[in-house]
Amino acid sequence: MLSQPKTHHTRKILVTSALPYANGSIHLGHLLEHIQTDIWTRFQRMRGHTCYSVCADDAHGTPVMLKAQQLGITPEQMVAQTRAEHHQDLLDFNVNYDNYYVTHSDENKELCELVYNRLNAAGYISQRTISQLYDPEKQMFLPDRFVKGTCPSCKAEDQNGDSCDVCSATYDPTELINPRSVVSGATPVLRDSEHYFFDLPQFEGMLQDWLKSGAIQIEMANKLQEWFEKGLQQWDISRDAPYFGFEIPNAPGKFFYVWVDAPVGYMASFKNLCDRTEGLNFDEFWNKDSDAELYHFIGKDITYFHCLFWPAMLEGAGFRKPTGVNVHGFVTVNGAKMSKSKGTFIKGRTYLDHLNPEYLRYYFASKSSDAVSDIDLNFEDFAQKVNSDLVGKVVNIASRCASFINKRFDGKLSSNVLEPALVAEFQQAQTSISDAFEKRQFSRAIREIMALADKANQFIDSNAPWVTIKDPEKLQFTHDVCSLGINLFRLLVVYLKPVLPTLAAQSEVFLNDSLTWDSLNNVLSDHSVSPFKALMQRVEMDKITAMVEDSKENLEPTKTVDPNSPLAKDPIGETISFEDFAKVDLRVALIAKAEHVEGAEKLLRLELDLGGESKQVFAGIKSAYQPEDLVGKHTVMVANLAPRKMRFGLSEGMVLAAGPGGKDLFILEPHTGAKPGMKVK
Ligand code: MSP
Ligand code: ZN
Repeated sequence: MLSQPKTHHTRKILVTSALPYANGSIHLGHLLEHIQTDIWTRFQRMRGHTCYSVCADDAHGTPVMLKAQQLGITPEQMVAQTRAEHHQDLLDFNVNYDNYYVTHSDENKELCELVYNRLNAAGYISQRTISQLYDPEKQMFLPDRFVKGTCPSCKAEDQNGDSCDVCSATYDPTELINPRSVVSGATPVLRDSEHYFFDLPQFEGMLQDWLKSGAIQIEMANKLQEWFEKGLQQWDISRDAPYFGFEIPNAPGKFFYVWVDAPVGYMASFKNLCDRTEGLNFDEFWNKDSDAELYHFIGKDITYFHCLFWPAMLEGAGFRKPTGVNVHGFVTVNGAKMSKSKGTFIKGRTYLDHLNPEYLRYYFASKSSDAVSDIDLNFEDFAQKVNSDLVGKVVNIASRCASFINKRFDGKLSSNVLEPALVAEFQQAQTSISDAFEKRQFSRAIREIMALADKANQFIDSNAPWVTIKDPEKLQFTHDVCSLGINLFRLLVVYLKPVLPTLAAQSEVFLNDSLTWDSLNNVLSDHSVSPFKALMQRVEMDKITAMVEDSKENLEPTKTVDPNSPLAKDPIGETISFEDFAKVDLRVALIAKAEHVEGAEKLLRLELDLGGESKQVFAGIKSAYQPEDLVGKHTVMVANLAPRKMRFGLSEGMVLAAGPGGKDLFILEPHTGAKPGMKVK
């Protein structure tokens, strides 16, 4: 059997994906990047290299701060919730970072201060007073996105602070006619404030060299030349309080702009990993003379930050620069920008509610190259590709051969290799397929793997084991055909393992073998396999339709109501989004205690047991219930309502009740199977 030389040189690699903002859910656009990163990382590990991957939630900035205010929680609380949700979404897509951290961390604060202090000491930081729009009502400076007004150029109304959607003019927010604050509606005023600047122009020569070093795709490097032609500018790295972020050392009330601490967050996430991993050394990866490789996977919209500011910050602070910044294009759905009203703005979680994550991993791999072009997720194509390639070709090879092996040959593969040349062809393909994975040309890898899958199927077709199995004289031949079929399947699964970890894991159980890149260099002979279980279902179009329906944001007005309906008296008000609804945490609660409240006309004080946690609620149900009638009953409560201080004490939730009022008010009593703490859906 042909044996490829092993890669003896073990590389040390650190990989990152861009840090998702903590004020929204992971959607299919984000997932392209996470899946690309994960495939590449898994590939490197299968090859025996040391490869770490880190990511985090990007916690800071004005939008996060304002959203938390809207929700009535602290930004820390919101970020903690979102981080946990993002992390779970990613895990459920089999995207496994060594660390999924958050930029609002001690490590990040320390590293930001270190980077800043070094830049400052080296003379790269300066101060200057600038004039910006300020919201006098909300008492905060307004980022461009938070000012709207009439376009100074074409006079179109309701345009953003930095550019006009109608005539595409770009301008300064101070040039808007009739500007207003998106936060409060107030008319912004100009106000002076001292800002801190990073001296980017000093790094022009270094950046030009770095861009030529092959660190970034040529098309991107060319695009970045436009910025050099315009001339690099001083970069404003400070924001005034109130701001959710890290305060700048020796600059009270001044905070690092989120884009300063976000990339440093890559280092901080890795630092946190090092601190809890024996033998993993931060400096080995980040020192100026590091021999480790560092790659960032990012979308094209944030190239500027990763290819100008970030390498300059690293250089200025005495750290190493990225080996490569891998830029991808944007995900479109059915040929258009993802849209909430069309239901094509699909969250990772919504996808998971309907479809197998491996379909998406495979589809994105089959469409990913090292180019920056956008990637269209076309649902017809998606279903067709997954069904014909994975179900029709790859899984089919195993299912056609496995039942004979299991039932007729005692679950054992033969010790003959029927067509060594075919096996050799599968093995030799590793040179080209690994080259494709290494260069992130995943679509090429997939094409070559599927060409092999076609050959495996042709081999089985032309030998028709389902015919020869009936001929007792051809039993050995049939055994050899099916065994080779299984071995070819095994080699294909090795190649697909970085893309399809679940399929690979299930195949490993079936094959009684654990698969690494080295597995390509042998075949299983005289080897027992396990009973075969179906590896993958076909994509059903109706599942896709249901997912799109679930993603549609309902923009329809409420319907007219029957005048006799209670709704006529009490019409349903403004609709809330599904997202808003999903935030309401309804729980079954046991009423552990109930008592009158002195001086209160309508209220009873309830102590609610949530199965471990107890909450106090003041409920306006005195007209309908005696306290002793309530104790021991189960009811439903809103468990995550922000606590409210009332005259009689803190109320930490609400119980649900219905009825016309007065004596006829009924608290909701769930079915007897309910247990305190149970979620109500
Ligand atoms: N928080 C910053 C990144 C800081 S990195 C130090 C950010 N966050 S983001 O949530 O807006 O985007 C995270 C990543 O997802 C970015 O690389 C971005 O390009 C990518 N994408 C966001 N929408 C996308 C698509 N529709 N398609 C493909 N990638 C997309 O930017
Ligand atoms: Zn305009």
